[in-house]
Amino acid sequence: MLRVNERRLSRDECLRRWIQAGIDAEPIGRSGVQLARSQPVTRLPGFAEGWFSVQDGAAQQAAPLLLGGLEPAGPRLRLLDACAAPGGKTAHLLEWVDADVLALDVDAARIRRVQENLGRLGLQARIEVADAAEPTTWWDGQAFDGILLDAPCTASGIVRRHPDVRWLRRDRDVAALAQQQARLLQALWPLLRPGGRLLYCTCSVFKAEGQEQVQAFLARHKEAQLLPSPGHLLPGQAGRHPSLPDNLGREHDGFFYALLQRGAP
Ligand SMILES: C[S@@+](CC[C@H](N)C(=O)[O-])C[C@H]1O[C@@H](n2cnc3c(N)ncnc32)[C@H](O)[C@@H]1O
Repeated sequence: MLRVNERRLSRDECLRRWIQAGIDAEPIGRSGVQLARSQPVTRLPGFAEGWFSVQDGAAQQAAPLLLGGLEPAGPRLRLLDACAAPGGKTAHLLEWVDADVLALDVDAARIRRVQENLGRLGLQARIEVADAAEPTTWWDGQAFDGILLDAPCTASGIVRRHPDVRWLRRDRDVAALAQQQARLLQALWPLLRPGGRLLYCTCSVFKAEGQEQVQAFLARHKEAQLLPSPGHLLPGQAGRHPSLPDNLGREHDGFFYALLQRGAP
């Protein structure tokens, strides 16, 4: 699935140009487009010009969930994308709002792709290689209005596209990754301003990396509120979730989303 960069052109204009060029595609959600036939995206009109990105439909829910109703405390919205590479969701945030975005990733090779992707799309963020769970090494002390924590996970939700995930993972990985996720949540939570929001997500279908992780967090943080959130999104169940009425095609990755608010707004 593709996501149209609405900073460059509207989704309908993009579809019109592609249909003129003989490319059959249909709209999904606000900015999504599903091609009728798979083809190399770099050869589609507008790739180099940054008209669009490749992004799964479930992943396209992140930016709208975090940004919906989120107001800046200061003159501009301050956002942290804590695990940003290769930058799919960073770009989506920037396509939707004018904001100061800090994009971090611990992997120096992967973070170069954030720069490349934002460059092609004509977007800008501050990009740093850092361990998000060690804020003393990178945080300037100014609280964020919003934090996206797209945490490292087993990627069990993307097996339909990457069937090898089943063989690349071991049972013990779930517990080890759940521990990393808890460490990131714990370290990033205090960086939010009161009333600020943190969107926790993983492309996993395992409850240990989703619902159970968030329940344990809420038990430790009485000042945290769980706002209406999709929870576990399973392929084939789109359209049935009340918070995502018609925005998702049925063919999407397994994903988990929890939107947490720090104290009263
Ligand atoms: C699910 S991927 C992020 C995908 C990205 N948000 C996107 O939409 O394109 C998780 C990322 O977390 C990074 N990561 C893992 N541990 C981290 C840490 N302690 N601090 C920052 N990044 C971390 C990994 O290198 C990986 O790029």
